[in-house]
Amino acid sequence: MRHGCDTVIVSRRQDKLKQSADLLTKATGRRCVPIQMDVRKPEQIIKAVDDALAQMGRIDILINGAAGNFLAPAASLSFNAFKTVMEIDAHGTFNVSKVVYEKYFKDHGGMIVNITATLQMRGTALQTHAGSAKAAIEAMTKHLAVEWGPDRVRVMCVAPGPIGDTEGMNRLGGKHLTDNIVKLIPIQRIGTKQDIGDTVLYVVSNAAQLLTGTTIIADGGNCLTDDNNFIARRAMLQKFSKL
Ligand code: COA
Repeated sequence: MRHGCDTVIVSRRQDKLKQSADLLTKATGRRCVPIQMDVRKPEQIIKAVDDALAQMGRIDILINGAAGNFLAPAASLSFNAFKTVMEIDAHGTFNVSKVVYEKYFKDHGGMIVNITATLQMRGTALQTHAGSAKAAIEAMTKHLAVEWGPDRVRVMCVAPGPIGDTEGMNRLGGKHLTDNIVKLIPIQRIGTKQDIGDTVLYVVSNAAQLLTGTTIIADGGNCLTDDNNFIARRAMLQKFSKL
């Protein structure tokens, strides 16, 4: 929005959306329309996209960022827990992309950015559900880039590592990060929301016109050096859940 977009934000909770929209408009002076929608419910998506087009007249960029996650060993995930995360992340990304493509991008071109993660690259401990969903999104990104490229649609993934002051960090044990763990990250710090915003800005800009069907990892090199020890992580999870 600081670079000139008016924006529609969507989520399940209208109260949180309204609050965020007011904050974003105040910070940037741009228009922000909050629309309630669950990415798992196609009929809500169709209505939301119609509403967005009625209010804005066009859609240039779609950012798929809806995600659900928690730390859990695969063996203790219920069938429904695995399914729920797949439905929010992977199905949600497909559902929204399909509706926006059919209703607008097919005739006008556009840009889709899917926010994934680095979990799936190494089979991260306690993250079977989220890693499987993010891997599906990365595969989907390639398929859609191939099929929709001729319609002038670019499809990309941005894969953040640990990002400070986010719901994800709180849920995934980030609040227990010590300075010693941070020192293992090659750039010696965790990421910020601004870092991810800047990466997405590059991806959607004209400077990135050759990029489609691939993933930009934005994690300061974290996935190259991060510990991935299942036994130790499971013990840490048990310790934290008792705090
Ligand atoms: N460990 C193991 N299983 C869990 C869990 C946890 N911490 N939290 C939820 N589940 C299971 C539930 O028990 C349920 O399975 P069951 O029916 O077999 O008992 C299943 O996951 C679905 O949970 P429910 O709360 O009904 O789903 P929901 O759609 O309301 O919520 C979640 C989805 C679980 C992903 C919830 O954490 C959420 O809404 N997250 C959104 C924000 C978020 O996670 N952001 C972080 C991004 S990194």
